[in-house]
Amino acid sequence: MRPLQDTTRSRVSALRSIPREAAATTLPAFHPMPSHLLESARHTILLVDPVDVNRSLLKGILKAGSYRLLEARNPVEAMVVLEREAVDLIIAEVMMPEISGMEFCRRVKRNRRTQLVPVLLVTNLNGVENEVAGLESGADEFLTKPLHPLIVRTRVRAMLRNKMAFDSLEEAETILFALAQTIEQRDKETSHHCQRLAALSVALGIAIGLPEEDLVALHRGGYLHDIGKIAVPDEILFKQGRLTDDEWVIMRGHTLAGEAICRPMKSLSQVLPIIRNHHEKWDGTGYPDALAGEDIPLLARVLQLADIYDALTSTRSYKEAFQPARAIEILEREAAEGWRDPELVSVFCEIVRQPGFLTRGTELFAAQTDEAEVDEGLKGMRESLSRMSRELLR
Ligand SMILES: [Fe+2]
Repeated sequence: MRPLQDTTRSRVSALRSIPREAAATTLPAFHPMPSHLLESARHTILLVDPVDVNRSLLKGILKAGSYRLLEARNPVEAMVVLEREAVDLIIAEVMMPEISGMEFCRRVKRNRRTQLVPVLLVTNLNGVENEVAGLESGADEFLTKPLHPLIVRTRVRAMLRNKMAFDSLEEAETILFALAQTIEQRDKETSHHCQRLAALSVALGIAIGLPEEDLVALHRGGYLHDIGKIAVPDEILFKQGRLTDDEWVIMRGHTLAGEAICRPMKSLSQVLPIIRNHHEKWDGTGYPDALAGEDIPLLARVLQLADIYDALTSTRSYKEAFQPARAIEILEREAAEGWRDPELVSVFCEIVRQPGFLTRGTELFAAQTDEAEVDEGLKGMRESLSRMSRELLR
């Protein structure tokens, strides 16, 4: 058996000396960017109004804000601008010929690229019903003319503050997902495991009637469940043969480390039980909490079945890919031995027997997992994260 390197040995003893609960909380806290720094960034605002004097008026009101102001005379021109510019806020007139401001707003919110850009609608139309219609079209705010400069400036600042907070959250999530995929790529054998796992878990989630928010959590869990493996050195993660007791401590720690990495992101709170508990067993012999039966979070049980099935039906250095029928047999045997939720295994085995079952899990999130776009956008980030993780593990 290959001896552990000194650095690994000290990491083992360090991890063992930390109580289990504490080990999950030793990462430094995540501090969001202070709001005064968010406000100091130079923002781009797109003004959409067919009347020149109206756009000039808005430009005058926003002059002191050192914003970068772009103009469009109609929604068609505006969409062209949105295609090539990163816009932080749109201020659009409701009354426009051909395409109204409300219809324009609906188009902005339907477009995946622009859906998070806040829209402020302005109009001459009075009445609650107009305001309600404007907000129902997806507008984030609604102002009635005559415009009061102070109100406009205050509203714009508040909307930009929210946009920056969203952007910062989105960037943090993007980094986490890139990190998760970098970890996956450390093991060439598990190529595209995360994508398949996400699709498989969502397919099972649909089959048992889970609500959409749980399907979203499963989809994210497919990518993030093993993010804690960043804390597991290669010589343990890829070791041929049995792990020693010390090595198992580190390997099992990936569940708690993953939870600690994702915990600061409130948007990932639904995914945390998946990350922490995807190695529990129905009879209580799993880890890290030795939970049994229905005490194991349902989403963790769902993802676990998909994880095992995908591992069984994929090629590994130590085994050929099993045929689906053989993988089903193994899952049913594990349920009979008391390791897996028997009812869930029945449903899972039933759905994987159906042709095209994976398509349902893939289609639901097709918009969020545009492979080409994700690959292109995250390539550089993955490379630098890969370098970082190698440094950290050295
Ligand atoms: Fe895992």
